[in-house]
Amino acid sequence: MCGIFAYLNYLTPKSRQEVLDLLVTGLKRLEYRGYDSTGVAIDSLDNKDIIMVKRTGKVKVLEDAIQEHFSGDDYSEPVLNHVGIAHTRWATHGVPCERNSHPQRSDDGNSFVVVHNGIITNYNDVKTFLAKKGYEFESDTDTEVFAKLVHHLWKKHPNYSFRELVEQAIQQVEGAFAIAVKSKHFPGECVASRRSSPLLVAIKTRTRLAGDHIPILYGKDDKKQSSDQDADSVLPRSDSTAEFMPLEEKEVEYFFASDASAVIEHTNRVIYLEDDDVAAVRDGTLSIHRLKKSLDDPHAREITTLKMEIQQIMKGNYDYFMQKEIFEQPESVVNTMRGRVRFDGTTIVLGGIKDYIPEIKRCRRLMLIGCGTSYHSAVATRQLLEELTELPVMVELASDFLDRNTPIFRDDVCFFISQSGETADTLMALRYCKQRGALIVGITNTVGSSICRESHCGVHINAGPEIGVASTKAYTSQFISLVMFALVMSEDRLSLQQRRLEILQALSKLADQIREVLKLDSKVQELAKDLYQHKSLLIMGRGYNFATCLEGALKVKELTYMHSEGIMAGELKHGPLALVDDSMPVLMIVLRDPVYVKCMNALQQVTSRKGCPVIICEEGDEETKAFSSRHLEIPRTVDCLQGILTVIPMQLLSYHIAVLRGCDVDCPRNLAKSVTVE
Ligand code: G6P
Repeated sequence: MCGIFAYLNYLTPKSRQEVLDLLVTGLKRLEYRGYDSTGVAIDSLDNKDIIMVKRTGKVKVLEDAIQEHFSGDDYSEPVLNHVGIAHTRWATHGVPCERNSHPQRSDDGNSFVVVHNGIITNYNDVKTFLAKKGYEFESDTDTEVFAKLVHHLWKKHPNYSFRELVEQAIQQVEGAFAIAVKSKHFPGECVASRRSSPLLVAIKTRTRLAGDHIPILYGKDDKKQSSDQDADSVLPRSDSTAEFMPLEEKEVEYFFASDASAVIEHTNRVIYLEDDDVAAVRDGTLSIHRLKKSLDDPHAREITTLKMEIQQIMKGNYDYFMQKEIFEQPESVVNTMRGRVRFDGTTIVLGGIKDYIPEIKRCRRLMLIGCGTSYHSAVATRQLLEELTELPVMVELASDFLDRNTPIFRDDVCFFISQSGETADTLMALRYCKQRGALIVGITNTVGSSICRESHCGVHINAGPEIGVASTKAYTSQFISLVMFALVMSEDRLSLQQRRLEILQALSKLADQIREVLKLDSKVQELAKDLYQHKSLLIMGRGYNFATCLEGALKVKELTYMHSEGIMAGELKHGPLALVDDSMPVLMIVLRDPVYVKCMNALQQVTSRKGCPVIICEEGDEETKAFSSRHLEIPRTVDCLQGILTVIPMQLLSYHIAVLRGCDVDCPRNLAKSVTVE
């Protein structure tokens, strides 16, 4: 939630115009993280001031404003060293408006400007403190407090380096954040830091860097000393005087970004910052600092080479990312299984957890924890996990799990499922379980994310970057990852071999079957024309398809703003049936599986109340089709994988309804893809 993008060029001539273009492109890549207001800051032409442009609305609005604001030859003059920072916002403190957009500034003179992601929880205390010092606030944001705090510290400690000022400030704020700071007093420098909110530094050089690591530094880097220790200062200035020369480049560009999709078109070399790292660039030199040394700190931060391709984050021939991602599923499910499932045998290897399998087999219970769509993937696979592991399996919404202070034991195995790997509620639940000694397994799509790093072991679902806010291909890949885990757990159970074989065979056919389901697209579009003007859609099913009902309803809600409810068909007569009449749109999933007869009962209950449901059924199932003139037929597969095939028509349906209703498919109102606040 919220996207940070900053760009620094050193001895690499770039005009302000080029810098602005880079910032805007970076923001567009991060727009899925939040898109209610945006802003940029660059140096003024005389380098004496900082110019900010901020707008309410999406990045396009900002782009137009920038074009209007900066024109003329002067902006195409190259500069050798410059820092630009940019932000796309998902409002938490203060309504979306220009005043509350980032960058936020420290004072009228724009001494320090800050872009921020997350929430500073003690901002009221800091605000009161600063107000007493004479600061006046112009926005409703918590971010402004940070900018003013840095300014206050700068006045107190005129000899401190930029990095030291930010370091002091972050010690005094609480909460989750990622920040990037620019200052007119430290031209050409940028300082960034994170705590529980993702941030990476990407490096672009003409020549390959000398090493693959950036050493971590503790204490101060300045050769100049100051003795201005201040009574007001909460923290003592470190007295370590480590001299260092971490990464020196002649010509270099640095990018600070909330995630890798914003930098991949420029470079594939990134450093994922850890909590409380402070990354500073001065004279083209990047250094990473930590104020306090802890025993388990590595000595360096690794430079990771991204495997992502630029095409993966482009829309190609599709109108929307979501549409592209739906249609990528035949490939993404194969990528999830690639190198793991051997279809010619019965073995499955999940390299990221294989050493932990004996420990997992001894556990007391499995807990699957996530939010939104990721939670639904847990619901979808719970039954199979229970069947193949013979363990109790609990599925939990991370927020509710935390609210309940759920008891956790050392012999619990807790799975944290998250596309982004950064969802705050899921991450908090992970830390809660880790503290209590449980084994932590991460199931994520984002290599290097917080959940990846903080798990003991895990599975990368390898679905490829998912940009559309509504999750689609990540869901089917999470689903398959959990199915593979169930298969691994039952590898040596003789009585389950027939069942495993049946599932493995079905997995081998899945990609082709998904292609078949995707051919329903135009039929689903026709159906969407029938439904898009309605106010509500009830989606009913049970057993292996209940998760599809929940996930389908979530897709409809988030994309179309229509009311939609996923209803467990077994609960129909306990309330929801009262909603059914001849005008209520209903969709029912009725497949030939162990709950078929029960689903048929539900279907009859609906049709006898004059309901006329759309039915998702198996190819050629005439008996079921006879109940309605509107049906979508999907290929037959093993019961526990049906949910993958039934969710795709729901993804397509919500997509088409959203288009017909004129909704912004990739950026639904009020939502963000990565929710890094509680
Ligand atoms: C947000 C998104 C959902 C997503 C959920 C969990 O609410 O809008 O689409 O399912 O977060 O995200 P995660 O990255 O943890 O899977």
